[in-house]
Amino acid sequence: MGDERVKTLPVRRTSRLSGFYQQSPERRRARLVEARWVAPEEAEGLAGLGGFDEACADSLVENVIGLHGLPLGLALNFVIDGVERLVPMAVEEPSIIAAASLAARLCAAGGGFSVTADPPITTAQVQLLDVRSVEASLAALVEKAPELLAEVDALIPTMRARGGGAREVEVRVLDATTLVVHLHIDTRDAMGANCVNAVAEALAPRLAEVARARAGLKILTNLADRRTVRVRAHVPLAALVTEAFSDGAVVRDGILEAQRFAELDPYRAVTHNKGVMNGVDAVLVACGNDWRAVEAGAHAWASRTGVYRPLTTWGVGVEGALEGELWMPLATSTAGGAARTHPGVLRALRLARVSGALDLAGLAAAAGLATNLAALRALSTEGIQKGHMALHARRVAAEAGAQGALIEIVAERLSRERVYRPERAREILAAEAARSREGCP
Ligand code: MEV
Repeated sequence: MGDERVKTLPVRRTSRLSGFYQQSPERRRARLVEARWVAPEEAEGLAGLGGFDEACADSLVENVIGLHGLPLGLALNFVIDGVERLVPMAVEEPSIIAAASLAARLCAAGGGFSVTADPPITTAQVQLLDVRSVEASLAALVEKAPELLAEVDALIPTMRARGGGAREVEVRVLDATTLVVHLHIDTRDAMGANCVNAVAEALAPRLAEVARARAGLKILTNLADRRTVRVRAHVPLAALVTEAFSDGAVVRDGILEAQRFAELDPYRAVTHNKGVMNGVDAVLVACGNDWRAVEAGAHAWASRTGVYRPLTTWGVGVEGALEGELWMPLATSTAGGAARTHPGVLRALRLARVSGALDLAGLAAAAGLATNLAALRALSTEGIQKGHMALHARRVAAEAGAQGALIEIVAERLSRERVYRPERAREILAAEAARSREGCP
């Protein structure tokens, strides 16, 4: 028996790992161990494909002939609902992870992100055709709704045991002879596609009987508007100040103008939302989730007023701070599919300390709000090319053999000269080595 008077202090982990971007992947994994995010063996397991192999791939999809890799990176500086978090991102586009980390740092200055999420409702649709009287069929379905809910629950005892289950039967009229029944089901930590599709298929004959109609398609809807997440953040003016912009209010107003552009113009709104999805999708891919479903739902949601609009809003808050919100459908899963069988995905979920589907939705949404903020801030100030080229210069410097502080020195020279060739990086590096041999400061 332990001494009950001895209390174990909770481990405080920080998501601010300074200089992380300058280090090698191996050193970064060691930093995760030092910062107590992972145990040493877990860190080793993150290397390479994270344990994903051909047998695992073969069990996931058909006709496997090999594996396809993507970089797995960590976005830093995230504070979500008061807790520091590392955000795993799998993505091929340069700058996204750096952008998310930068914006998360700005938001952390205002206390970080706060998340609210709907219960995890996934909705099945059953199409009912050849309806003779839409009014009579609708009335019959509404009258039988309590019974139908009980029948759905009887089909999913395991989901019920986990706290999920049928929540609502909704009937919509599509035309003079067609209805659609929506079965809203709480699928807990599952995205729920298999569950609700199976329910829809099993219940369709009964629904057709009640409605005196013929059952057509039985499938979930990816317009998951009962499963939305909202994430908010505010950035104090002081955090918006940059080298080139000494007045945070100017940066804020530039972001507000960019927001207005997206609100007025669908051509811009699509690109604005692409910047949101840069963050959301990278987290979903790292965590083995169905990003196609989320993409489809996000863009339909963005058009729900009849005009395609930005998924985020930005405005002015207390003391002139910049305030932002992302509100979108986000159906996620931490139970089932790749989230259960892909070892790399399991590691990413553990590393990010994801506690369930709603938590993952909050994490992905925070990443989406962050990448949107970073894009608007860059576009409305110096443009995005400067940042992209600075990152490119660092990569060239590192590939040429620069390490530690030398990466910054070589990258800065390459950026100043606007020459990003590896030979030039090697020349600068050799000159720096000669200088330090000669004892120059
Ligand atoms: C590039 O991947 C994303 C941006 O185009 C987003 C935006 O324009 O807001 C930079």
